Parts: sequence; structure tokens; C-alpha cells
Amino acid sequence: MANILTESKDRITVVAVNRPEALNALNGDTVNELKDVFRTIRDDEKSGVVILTGSGDKAFIAGADIKEMTSASPTEAIASARRGQDLTNLIQDFPKVVIAAVNGFALGGGCEVAMACHMRVASSSAMFGQPEVNLGIIPGWGGTQRLPRLVGKGRAVEMIAGGEMVSADRAFEMGLVNYVTSPEKLMEKCHELAQSILKRGPDAVRLSLEAVNRGMEMTQELGLQYEANLFGIAFSTEDRIEGTKAFVEKRKPNFKEK
Ligand code: CAA
Repeated sequence: MANILTESKDRITVVAVNRPEALNALNGDTVNELKDVFRTIRDDEKSGVVILTGSGDKAFIAGADIKEMTSASPTEAIASARRGQDLTNLIQDFPKVVIAAVNGFALGGGCEVAMACHMRVASSSAMFGQPEVNLGIIPGWGGTQRLPRLVGKGRAVEMIAGGEMVSADRAFEMGLVNYVTSPEKLMEKCHELAQSILKRGPDAVRLSLEAVNRGMEMTQELGLQYEANLFGIAFSTEDRIEGTKAFVEKRKPNFKEK
């Protein structure tokens, strides 16, 4: 991988986009590399939680690579949006929790990738934005869909049509990020969240993610039906046997790593 670094320890895999000279902007090759990395981690039983971040101290991901876009035809732009959406869908539907460690600019496609992650932790120096209108284009990797779902329509339109960046503190107020930390504590906080998830039943975590992800795309009535079905499936797992037994025996559950 030319543009991605990965490091795994204690079932936590840190993935870093590594193009600091371009503020980790995602060109086509890097989008493809990220997809390959996520597919590999998905099948890696030793990996339980993913933390996605950017190399350097200035940017998480400053968006799609604008230099690659300048000569795209409308048809190429549709294909490019679809490739980016495939990446954000892959992350959103990932069966292991993905935490975005937003260590700087998360703009355009970078904000969209962060929003596809299941949680976001921001360094106090992070800046979020959908600045596409400044380029005469619109978000293409899910920003018009995920941002209103996360922060509400009014705030999303303000960010998308206004094109201004918002600070980490403002992103927290809007519900766009779960936590804001100092730059030094960012990875520590993400690891703390990851470790907490790794103590839980892995099948239960996977089924919860699926219920939340799929449920968001359904009416509440259908989502509740879906939840009830997954609740049933949870009762077929070893996690359920161990979790409920441990409670009755007044001990900590010993879930099997998967
Ligand atoms: N694409 C390509 N290169 C980028 C880039 C991007 N999105 N963002 C930054 N870079 C490059 C710059 O061109 C510069 O490279 P050179 O030194 O070779 O000129 C290098 O990164 C450093 O950037 P700056 O000198 O601009 O750094 P700065 O601190 O002055 O400004 C910034 C930082 C405000 C983030 C500014 O770089 C910027 O506005 N970047 C563009 C952000 C943006 O518009 N993102 C949306 C892209 S479109 C998109 O993502 C559509 C979609 O929905 C998928």
C-alpha cells in the first residue's frame, strides 16, 4: 500500500491515510487502497475494532483529490462519486466498529468518510466542512445524505450550502462528534473506546451494528421488526449463553474472541 499505513495490536487496527503532503486528500488509488485494507481487516479474525485517522498533525482527510477532478467529464464524475460511495458504504456497513480519530481537517470527502465511521472523536484542532460549493460542485460521497441524518436538516444545509468549516467544539454541539480531546489525548481516547467494545460479546456487537445501520434505512416499524429478528439470532450465539450465565454466577463474562 503506497498511501495507507496499518498497525494492529491487541485486536485494535489503526489505519492511517498517509499522504500528508496533500493533507491526506484521497485520490483514486488511495480510495482503492482503503477499500482493500478494509476488506482485509473484515476477514481478519485477530482484528476487532478499527481506528481510522490521517498521518501528520494537520489533516484527517482534506477531501477527494481536487487536482484529479479538474478535467473529469460528468460521466466520469458520476463514476468517481460511486467509487467514493462504495468506500463510505463499506465503512458504514463494516461488521466491526470503526472509530474516526479526526486529527485535523475533515473536509468534503474527508468529512464524508468520517461520517461513515460508527463514531467520531475529534482533536480540538480538527475542522469539519463540506466546502464543495466553493469549488462549484456538491458533496458526492454521501454528505447530502449522512450529514442531515447526523445533525438535522437545518445544520446540514448551513454546512453544505454555506461551505464554511466548523470547529471541533461546534461539531460536538451539533452531535457530529462523540468527544473532543486535546491533540495529545486523541488516540488514547479512541483506544479507550475500542477496548471497552472489545470486552463485550463480539456477536452481540456485530448484531447491534447491523440493527442500527439497517434500521436507519427503514421505517421505525420495519426497523423494530428487524431488531426483533436480530434479537432472536442473538439467542443462538455462544455470547448469549456465556453472558447470561456469567451474570447469574456473579462473574465477568469470558467472551470468545472472534
Ligand atoms: N485535493 C488535492 N490536494 C489538496 C487538497 C485536496 N482536497 N487539500 C489540500 N491539498 C494540497 C494542496 O494543494 C497543497 O499542495 P501543494 O503544496 O502541492 O500546493 C497541500 O495539500 C497543502 O495544502 P494548503 O497549502 O492549501 O494548506 P493550507 O493550510 O493553506 O490550507 C486547507 C488547508 C484549508 C484544508 C486547504 O488545503 C483546502 O481548502 N483544501 C481543499 C479542501 C476541499 O475543498 N475539500 C473538498 C474536496 S472536493 C470533495 O471532497 C468532493 C466529495 O464530496 C468527494
